[in-house]
Amino acid sequence: MRVRVWDLPLRLFHWLLVTAVVTAFVTAKVGGNAMDWHGRAGLLIIGLLVFRVVWGFLGSSNARFASFVRGPAAIRAYLQGKWQGAGHNPLGALSVLAMLALFAAQAATGLFANDDVAFEGYLYPLVSAAVSERITGIHKLLESALILLVLLHLGAVTFYTRIKKESLVLPMITGWKEVPMEPPTPRGGGFIAFIVATLIATGVVYVAAGQLLPPPPPPAAVETPAW
Ligand code: HEM
Ligand code: HEM
Repeated sequence: MRVRVWDLPLRLFHWLLVTAVVTAFVTAKVGGNAMDWHGRAGLLIIGLLVFRVVWGFLGSSNARFASFVRGPAAIRAYLQGKWQGAGHNPLGALSVLAMLALFAAQAATGLFANDDVAFEGYLYPLVSAAVSERITGIHKLLESALILLVLLHLGAVTFYTRIKKESLVLPMITGWKEVPMEPPTPRGGGFIAFIVATLIATGVVYVAAGQLLPPPPPPAAVETPAW
């Protein structure tokens, strides 16, 4: 039967995350002035991730962590072909969590990083230059792990489409999916939940953007030479 498997906020989260991640990678490689956009894409990613975590508690059934974060027994059952469900399968759920955690670590380290030229993360003033160097090192180190996870994610989606002949992509666009059994009635994910998640995400972005930091001191007045 046809069910609404992903709610609209979750789908928007996914495709905005894809757009912001691609933007963050491209701008990091271009460097220079593009770093301003790298920082902005990073802030958007932080907002999206915070939204997603709150949505994991307040969103509709399949978006909730409680519905897809399962133990090893469920993973074993899935690998033996005994899993039935509409949302993330128990194994895929692990890669979802890993992606959310790694992108959060990447964005968080970026806030304190610097590019040795003109761009500094928004919370750079909170750390010493030496600590920022270290954090920048971690920020660059995480890059390969992120690429690996995204490739794994795309590989899994392609495997489902080509080999298992089950398109996961269309449901992530339209929200609808054909499932073999009657699913439980979806719960949660209403308008109030959306507003709460958006407000919390906006608040965290405000702090991450350094808006609570004192303004930098004005540049020292330059004496006009007598000549
Ligand atoms: C930078 C690239 C990408 C990132 C970081 C990413 C990240 C994610 C994340 C975090 C989820 C879990 C959604 C949730 O929060 O519950 C997810 C699910 C999903 N993504 Fe992506 N994604 C990327 C690219 C793509 C692309 C290009 C496609 C399609 C061609 C795609 C198709 C899907 C599908 C179908 C699911 C749902 C899987 C399922 O049914 O369990 N993703 N993705
Ligand atoms: C999840 C979001 C992010 C991703 C995927 C990401 C990705 C990257 C990558 C791949 C690089 C290395 C580029 C290279 O050297 O080839 C980089 C560099 C950098 N990123 Fe991010 N970044 C993110 C968020 C942020 C944020 C939020 C900030 C600051 C507000 C930031 C600040 C920097 C800086 C300053 C560098 C330059 C390091 C250097 O060249 O020494 N990043 N980022």
